[in-house]
Amino acid sequence: MAKLGTFLESPCIFMIMLIPWFSPCVCCPRYQKESLLQFKVLLLGNTSSNSDMDLLYGLESWNSTSDDCCQWKYVACDYLQKVTALDLSNITFFQPFKTLVTSDVLTPLFRLQTLSSLHICKIDIHGEISGVGFANLTNLVELFMDENSFNGSIPPQLFSLRHLERLDLSENLIGGTLDNNLGDLSNLKELSLDNNLIQGKIPLQIGNLTNLEALSLSHNKLSGAIPLQIGNLSNVLTLYLNDNNLSGQIPPSIQKMEQLQILALENNLLSGDIPTWLLDFKNMQELYLGGNKLSLGKIIIVPRSKFFVLSLRSCNLSGEIPFWLSTQTFLLYLDLSENNLEGNFPKWLAESDILYLILSSNKLSGSLPSRLFQFQRLYILILSSNNFSGPLPDTIGEAIGMRILMLSNNNFSGSLPASISNMLKLELLDLSSNQFSSNEFPIFNPNSSLVYADFSFNKFFGNVPVTFPLTTEVILLSHNHFSGFLPQCLTNFSHMKYLDFHDNNIIGEIPVFLTEISSLHILNLRNNFLNGSIPINLSSLSALQILDLSINNLDGKIPPSLGNLTGMINDHDDSSSSIFSQIPFPSFWLQENRKLNDFKGSWQLHDLEVFWKKLKQGLPSQHLQMYTFLDLSSNQLSGEIPDCLGVMKNLKSFNLSNNKLSGKIPMSFGDLQSLESLDLSHNNLNGEIPQTLAKLLQLSYLDLSNNKLVGHIPSGPQMDRLNDPNSYTNNSGLCGLQIQIPCESEKFTPKTKQKQGKPKKRKSWETWFSWGMAVIGYSSGFFSTILVMYVIGYFNAAPLQGRRRHIRHNTLFCF
Ligand SMILES: *[C@@H]1O[C@H](CO)[C@@H](O)[C@H](O)[C@H]1NC(C)=O
Ligand SMILES: *[C@@H]1O[C@H](CO)[C@@H](O)[C@H](O)[C@H]1NC(C)=O
Ligand SMILES: *[C@@H]1O[C@H](CO)[C@@H](O)[C@H](O)[C@H]1NC(C)=O
Ligand SMILES: *[C@@H]1O[C@H](CO)[C@@H](O)[C@H](O)[C@H]1NC(C)=O
Ligand SMILES: *[C@@H]1O[C@H](CO)[C@@H](O)[C@H](O)[C@H]1NC(C)=O
Ligand SMILES: *[C@@H]1O[C@H](CO)[C@@H](O)[C@H](O)[C@H]1NC(C)=O
Ligand SMILES: *[C@@H]1O[C@H](CO)[C@@H](O)[C@H](O)[C@H]1NC(C)=O
Ligand SMILES: *[C@@H]1O[C@H](CO)[C@@H](O)[C@H](O)[C@H]1NC(C)=O
Ligand SMILES: *[C@@H]1O[C@H](CO)[C@@H](O)[C@H](O)[C@H]1NC(C)=O
Ligand SMILES: *[C@@H]1O[C@H](CO)[C@@H](O)[C@H](O)[C@H]1NC(C)=O
Ligand SMILES: *[C@@H]1O[C@H](CO)[C@@H](O)[C@H](O)[C@H]1NC(C)=O
Ligand SMILES: *[C@@H]1O[C@H](CO)[C@@H](O)[C@H](O)[C@H]1NC(C)=O
Repeated sequence: MAKLGTFLESPCIFMIMLIPWFSPCVCCPRYQKESLLQFKVLLLGNTSSNSDMDLLYGLESWNSTSDDCCQWKYVACDYLQKVTALDLSNITFFQPFKTLVTSDVLTPLFRLQTLSSLHICKIDIHGEISGVGFANLTNLVELFMDENSFNGSIPPQLFSLRHLERLDLSENLIGGTLDNNLGDLSNLKELSLDNNLIQGKIPLQIGNLTNLEALSLSHNKLSGAIPLQIGNLSNVLTLYLNDNNLSGQIPPSIQKMEQLQILALENNLLSGDIPTWLLDFKNMQELYLGGNKLSLGKIIIVPRSKFFVLSLRSCNLSGEIPFWLSTQTFLLYLDLSENNLEGNFPKWLAESDILYLILSSNKLSGSLPSRLFQFQRLYILILSSNNFSGPLPDTIGEAIGMRILMLSNNNFSGSLPASISNMLKLELLDLSSNQFSSNEFPIFNPNSSLVYADFSFNKFFGNVPVTFPLTTEVILLSHNHFSGFLPQCLTNFSHMKYLDFHDNNIIGEIPVFLTEISSLHILNLRNNFLNGSIPINLSSLSALQILDLSINNLDGKIPPSLGNLTGMINDHDDSSSSIFSQIPFPSFWLQENRKLNDFKGSWQLHDLEVFWKKLKQGLPSQHLQMYTFLDLSSNQLSGEIPDCLGVMKNLKSFNLSNNKLSGKIPMSFGDLQSLESLDLSHNNLNGEIPQTLAKLLQLSYLDLSNNKLVGHIPSGPQMDRLNDPNSYTNNSGLCGLQIQIPCESEKFTPKTKQKQGKPKKRKSWETWFSWGMAVIGYSSGFFSTILVMYVIGYFNAAPLQGRRRHIRHNTLFCF
């Protein structure tokens, strides 16, 4: 009864009773209906004749025959039948159906001055946010435009929307700096500008937003010090400033933000001591400080905070693992990686109930306590790059919840406990770079989840093991003492993407059955004792991008069918299709808005070792999809190089050196347009170097030495830069600019140059100088390209890009 009473007294019911008397139609105003219809046309195109499209987006109710737009889906009105809310946050926008959506689509909405809530997310709207337009929407309380492609800077007019309580522009391409007027939004409770390109300093006026409860500026390019005024935000519960370029010390005023539950400062340039009060907040649950230049001294008093998540990565911790952590009884996630911690694995830590434990890159030693694995909810254990030793405890199989176990780069020895096969949920197992030695391999349960298994750089011996579950995608066994033939069972692994067996003692021919593993992207058999010829059918491995058969005893001809390796022909420059799409990076990190790139440091997986421009290089495993390699060097291959290999347009590195190849360099090599490194040295190649090589504009490394080549070295903008004489030595009469041996036909050119009136000597010096500069500028070409792409986030695998910064505890630790 009480409820009904208040309902009757409310102005709402009063108006509902009155409206029929004053208005013939209980509808939204005509101009509002038209604005929404116009908006729809701009968004979807004119779909009046295409109701499929309407249905797809649930916008079928938005039609001109339906007069009351208040009844339309995603639209809400007030009691005066004026549109107050538009929520398109649940529309999944399907790009292929639509050309680019620009920010002009919003124009019709700027007439809806009654709007108080606008959610337009994940539509991939391009272009700038209209300041003039939003200045009209003075009643806005909520504005959510996250996950679009808005660019430009935030228009100052947004900061004049005094009623605004929630503003979310995260995950756009917004640049510029933050305007001082930001402080005018005095009612703001939530401000999310993370994952943009915002530069400059955080304005002092941020301290005026005293009603703020959630502030996220992470993943931008903010620099300068964190303003002291931030401490005025005493109601803030979650503060994300991580992944910027913020410098200076942690401001003492943060101490005043007594409500803080989550504080993320990681991956900035902060320096100085970590104040002990930072560990004393009453409600603090998550603290992220890693990736700065901070230093945490000795903690003497037991901190008051009871953390769920504590990341003290690279905080200059030394000595033993601090004992005060044993009082952190709620701890679920602990990252102490990249410090100088030493001593043994503490007993109290082995007995704790931590779910995620990351201690990599320290100096910890001794053996692992068996108690550590007697906890079924230990999900992730990363102890890589320490000095742990001894055998793995037999209890390891009791950690049946384990998803990720990384123990690489330690001194573990002995054999692998058979119980490891009980870890049915284990997806990623990295035991590389240890001293394990055994010829017995655990027999993994066929139903186990293993995807990635790395045993490389150990002392395992015996036959190549195949006792993995058939769903395994990556098996890395390089740098061991495995011997015998390649086992036929390898063909049963129908998801296999990456096999690395290099530096072992494997014998026999390359078996034809290997060509049945059609999912294979990477095959590395370098430096074994393989003989016989290269199977013709190898070209049926259509996904193959990296093939390294170098340093074996392979003979016979290069099969022309290699030219059919589709993976080396087609451009698969699709950054989202990582070879490791299946690699189980835990949802935990993704929710926390991390990207695959953030898995540097503790997450470092084994690089793929290859020879690139004669140097041993590690290709980072996260980015392997970017590379295309074909290395057949140091074998006994003979005959001519098949002409059809020129179709491998996507090939970046091609090495046929140190064989017995004869005949000419195919003209078609000029079509290898992606080629950056070509090594044909130490063969019996004769004839002239095809002039078509001048078309290889990406080429930055060329070695044709130790052949029988003659004639004019091709010239062209790129060829002229490849002027290291060593690349051409020991041939049968090469000439050209690059080696400063003029060709017969060119003997007149100096004269013509002299006619131009420039002293000859200076000219040639200039030429050398500019070549030199060009070479220096180019030598690292490929890798710096990779680096730049890396920095601009090119490699962020889209499906993993993940969200969200607001971690919810109930979902946080679930897989
Ligand atoms: C949409 O198309 C219909 C006919 O298919 C036309 O009558 C109408 O004017 C168009 N509307 C707009 C806004 O272009
Ligand atoms: C127009 O919308 C109304 C509801 O608002 C719906 O009943 C009707 O079927 C829609 N008409 C079309 C042609 O989709
Ligand atoms: C969007 O979807 C979620 C869950 O799927 C639902 O709870 C919410 O009410 C939806 N919002 C709108 C505006 O449809
Ligand atoms: C602002 O609203 C008024 C009234 O609805 C309208 O006439 C005007 O065009 C709007 N301004 C912009 C920039 O859309
Ligand atoms: C924003 O994007 C649009 C279209 O994508 C482009 O034309 C415009 O130049 C960009 N503006 C800025 C400031 O980058
Ligand atoms: C906003 O912040 C600035 C700098 O901290 C301060 O000078 C100014 O008085 C504040 N304005 C209001 C209205 O609080
Ligand atoms: C961060 O600062 C460093 C040095 O101060 C600079 O080299 C780097 O480019 C900056 N990064 C960004 C994203 O602004
Ligand atoms: C805001 O912070 C500054 C710097 O810490 C301080 O001087 C000022 O008194 C604070 N203002 C309020 C209203 O707390
Ligand atoms: C790291 O800690 C040591 C003391 O353990 C100290 O001497 C050193 O200055 C610290 N380094 C930095 C960068 O703060
Ligand atoms: C393994 O132990 C040896 C000596 O016991 C030591 O020299 C070596 O550095 C250790 N390896 C690692 C990775 O710590
Ligand atoms: C690794 O630990 C062994 C003893 O287990 C010790 O002899 C050796 O010096 C340690 N190496 C390093 C690099 O700490
Ligand atoms: C390449 O594949 C095509 C079609 O599958 C086939 O016709 C051709 O003979 C193959 N080329 C070589 C050199 O094997």
